[in-house]
Amino acid sequence: MTTSAILEDVFRWRRDVRHFRPEPVAEATLDELLQVASMAPSVGLSEPWRFMRVDSPTRRDAVRGIFARSQADALAERESEDAAAYARLKLAGLDDAPHHIAVFSVEDPIQGRGLGRRTMPETTVWSTVMAIHTFWLAAAARGIGVGWVSILEPEAVRQALESPASWRFIAYLCVGYPSERHDTPELERLGWEQRQSACREWVRR
Ligand SMILES: Cc1cc2nc3c(=O)[nH]c(=O)nc-3n(C[C@H](O)[C@H](O)[C@H](O)COP(=O)(O)O)c2cc1C
Repeated sequence: MTTSAILEDVFRWRRDVRHFRPEPVAEATLDELLQVASMAPSVGLSEPWRFMRVDSPTRRDAVRGIFARSQADALAERESEDAAAYARLKLAGLDDAPHHIAVFSVEDPIQGRGLGRRTMPETTVWSTVMAIHTFWLAAAARGIGVGWVSILEPEAVRQALESPASWRFIAYLCVGYPSERHDTPELERLGWEQRQSACREWVRR
């Protein structure tokens, strides 16, 4: 297989994973994923991402509680038919994923000396998202699943994890070996949403 074919295969089979097998990922492999994620581009070379392993059962329980509350609020806001479809979705693997990783972005990092952020300060967050995506792809290439959980109250998560006030909460990742392998998103398989072709056409001016 050519390098581009291998890469495209990783893109095609990378999924948001919500169903995990219980066995843990080797510590050396998790460290490797973090090293690969750190190769992501960042505005001004600021490397604003902060990956936090959440191992404490008490803290994990706190995050599960925040997720449950956010889910209940999201459900309450939906019309009955839509709410029923929403309630059938599994939107996190918080109970079965062997590893939990919270990702933060330093709001105003010294590193990078402000380069590239004067007019677009949000570029630090975008850099952190690129590191998350790099982590996600590196994991997929090793047969490891990642599920991004955003149905959370950011300030509540920050407090539960006692992260510094200058770190903005970006993502909560469930990580482990997937119990199923698919080349289509779960939300598509469950009839919630479908991939569109819009990005396959150029917008021209
Ligand atoms: C910023 C972001 C937040 C997301 N939050 C959630 C979430 O809270 N729960 C969930 O089940 N999936 C979440 N996802 C995963 C998306 O639902 C998923 O990427 C999309 O359905 C496409 O599926 P795929 O990643 O398998 O291609 C999130 C993805 C992104 C990029």
